[in-house]
Amino acid sequence: MTPDTISARITDYANRADPYPLYAELRKTPVLREDDGTYLVSTYYEVRNLANDPRLSNDTRNRPSGYSRTADAEDTGLPPSFIFTDPPVHDRLRETINRPFGPPHSPRFLDGLRGELAKVVTELLDAFEGKDQVDIVEDFAYPLPVTAICKVLGVPREDEPRFHGWADALASSLDPQAGEEGQEKAQRARQELGAYLSDLIETKRRRPGPGILSTLAPDMTPADLEATAVLLLVAGHETTVNAITNTTLTLLRHPDVLDRFQKDPDLAVPLIEEVLRYEPPVQFVPWTTALADIDVAGTTIPKGSPVWLMLAAANRDPKRFMDPDRFDPHRKDNEHLGFYTGIHYCFGAPLARIELHLAVPELFRRVTFSRLLEDPPPYRANAVLRGPRHLPVAIEGLTA
Ligand code: HEM
Repeated sequence: MTPDTISARITDYANRADPYPLYAELRKTPVLREDDGTYLVSTYYEVRNLANDPRLSNDTRNRPSGYSRTADAEDTGLPPSFIFTDPPVHDRLRETINRPFGPPHSPRFLDGLRGELAKVVTELLDAFEGKDQVDIVEDFAYPLPVTAICKVLGVPREDEPRFHGWADALASSLDPQAGEEGQEKAQRARQELGAYLSDLIETKRRRPGPGILSTLAPDMTPADLEATAVLLLVAGHETTVNAITNTTLTLLRHPDVLDRFQKDPDLAVPLIEEVLRYEPPVQFVPWTTALADIDVAGTTIPKGSPVWLMLAAANRDPKRFMDPDRFDPHRKDNEHLGFYTGIHYCFGAPLARIELHLAVPELFRRVTFSRLLEDPPPYRANAVLRGPRHLPVAIEGLTA
């Protein structure tokens, strides 16, 4: 990929704080072919249609050699996790894994976690007492999702320092700029995190405990369960932290909206959905491949081509959203693509929404903010899972 291509500019760290002008430029060519044969699709209806098109694969083993693949496509001794598979394997795994997680079989499972997670929010905010500045990422947004996914799976929270680096390496490798070195690191991380989780799953087979790994153990092969545990631990880690942080940043940049939110906490639902449109934590999905020639908006994407679906660009398509660059929690119709659409629609969306609704209203109820200490804040390197690495803020006070 040559440095002056638009995909290189999007992944360039220099543009991380504000990639939106690049997305606007991209939308002028809804289906753009890069010199290396990669296609970038950036307009709302085209992204939505392709995400629902069975001719588009999430399994990068379908890419011709020479194109980047995900760590899941390489031989690490584990099968691909279900996000990187296609039907029928995808649907069978997703249905099995959903059984202990959500409706119709387990309609109460996630709700049952609310009390414990609310306690975590309270403790994190109590620790702000006496401070005049905090880092929203380290002190608030990161610990909650980690605790949540540990509870869901039944992984000991205190093991976080062990799996943090592995999860980080896997998340970083989703960025197309990770290169060969990043991919190799991710493959090693997948093996090591897999081995850690496999031991844990083995213990749970003998002595079942709380969490879905115990419930799933009798229904899945050890390798599929291990791959699933790796996926959920990573997916549950690196996305919601960005969602909580992006919400905080966006509200502090829009004091008028913050003022309305503090007067009317019922605004939380549309407000959080608007952040998922306006600053989506997953900016694009660069791991899809055309399984056949596909005609989109007058362009044919040839079979075998890597396709990037640009969710953050689609979320600001003026043909779909009125005044799309405006942060407006009152917009009437907000069918954003922050959680994707189609068969790969975010599995964790109900959990992420619970976490966001426990964290955001309580943060703004209890904390009186004075200002952002760095704007824009320093961002993570990742262009796909985009979010601040730190969000230092000055605070004036804390209520009980
Ligand atoms: C606000 C936070 C989150 C956002 C914005 C988000 C976004 C997304 C997106 C865009 C996809 C589609 C990716 C693709 O098709 O390739 C996805 C899939 C997925 N997400 Fe999330 N996610 C979030 C939180 C979570 C959490 C907390 C979990 C853990 C339970 C999770 C687990 C998954 C899984 C397993 C998939 C794959 C679904 C499938 O292939 O059928 N996500 N997510």
